[in-house]
Amino acid sequence: MRNEKQILENNVKEISKIIFGDSELHISVFSKEESIEYSESQFDFLCEIELLEKKIEQEQIGKLSKFLNKEVQQTSRKIFWFVGANGRTIKSIKKLKSKELQKDITLPKFIDDYIFNKLNASFAPNFKKFNKNLNHKKGDVLIYIGTYFPRSFAETYSIFNNIIQNEIIEKSYQEQEEINILDIGSGTGGNLSGLLLSLIENISKKANFNIVAVDGNKEALKFLEKIVFHIQLKYNLNISLNCHYVAFETITDLYENSKQFFEPNFDFIISSKMINEIITKDRDSYFNFYNHFAKYLNNEGLLLMLDVTKKIEVDYMPILLNKQTNRFIQENKGTYKTLIPTSCAKFDSICKQDCFSNNHFVVTHSKKKNDRTKVTYRIIGKSKFVNLILSKIDNIGNVIGWDNIGNQKYCYFISSTSNTQSAYKI
Ligand SMILES: C[S@@+](CC[C@H](N)C(=O)[O-])C[C@H]1O[C@@H](n2cnc3c(N)ncnc32)[C@H](O)[C@@H]1O
Repeated sequence: MRNEKQILENNVKEISKIIFGDSELHISVFSKEESIEYSESQFDFLCEIELLEKKIEQEQIGKLSKFLNKEVQQTSRKIFWFVGANGRTIKSIKKLKSKELQKDITLPKFIDDYIFNKLNASFAPNFKKFNKNLNHKKGDVLIYIGTYFPRSFAETYSIFNNIIQNEIIEKSYQEQEEINILDIGSGTGGNLSGLLLSLIENISKKANFNIVAVDGNKEALKFLEKIVFHIQLKYNLNISLNCHYVAFETITDLYENSKQFFEPNFDFIISSKMINEIITKDRDSYFNFYNHFAKYLNNEGLLLMLDVTKKIEVDYMPILLNKQTNRFIQENKGTYKTLIPTSCAKFDSICKQDCFSNNHFVVTHSKKKNDRTKVTYRIIGKSKFVNLILSKIDNIGNVIGWDNIGNQKYCYFISSTSNTQSAYKI
């Protein structure tokens, strides 16, 4: 039930964005048991939207009603509608997929309270200082947690929230007793926590989590342990966490010093914003990462490679990431394949473009409202599994990012702008 309610809340958020744009509003979804006012009616859930600053226009109500294909009612301040019974309408709303990811993320309150009130993290953006994080001491690690951890959380949470709702992926994890995760360059665990929360919220069966985290900053790993333990307590989970302190020069060096920790059984391999910190030592770091670590994926495993969008020396990270991912796929045709972006899924075997792809997210927490973050990423997996997922998807997206002034950028091979669709959503 909680799962369905969460799906519904996410859908209402997406729909209200389409109808009400950026207007400030408050969304509530109540199960029948939680809704006292309408306890006589037949329904599973009650959805409410309250506009905080503006009046709701009749035209908007009409549009929403048409969109939902059901009656939308109005009280003085709110509009509401019923969903049910037996999840029937939830499924049909789920099908009303928007063309975008749900990218407006609020850091869960229990994590927010923990990092700011218990750990005493602070919000203090400093782009230059946090360019490199390997040698940061406790004080700076706490600033990283208060400033950049929520961004990493939101990005990975949003990315996997969409991925895991795909019926093939959901089914593959729904049956698993154990979920194995490898995070390389884990730092304090922002992206790892995002992945964990998306799994916890979307997979109803309780699995055991085996997590391997690798990083060269001992202080960061200490905080990662605390935060993961906090998540474990909150959800009463079985988590086995192995943190490995490995400081390395290059990816090959990392591989040689850490391969004894891994077996080829990972469901998820993730690396977020680590390679940009070592790229000057080896320009082929993305390729070498795939070359050494992709073989540790199990048959239905997925690898997320995510990084910042900045230029380091002469190269933009998105262009390097795309070129080296394509090269890896082209050299391993039939073994590995891109899943996200979907345009790359279609053309990765031939693409040799200098492609600057990016996606942006917005995170809100108690110290900062609407903090924007922009990253570049690919998700790859074994060809057989990825092809199965792709075979059930109707639309290959063509929007691979936004330029500096906010215009959409299209895949070189699908540049038609008459039908635009995010390449980041399946
Ligand atoms: C920007 S942080 C990203 C942390 C986390 N993945 C996230 O997304 O929030 C980069 C991480 O890479 C690690 N790192 C950078 N260079 C490293 C190296 N040479 N050896 C080991 N770890 C390194 C840093 O210690 C840091 O924790």
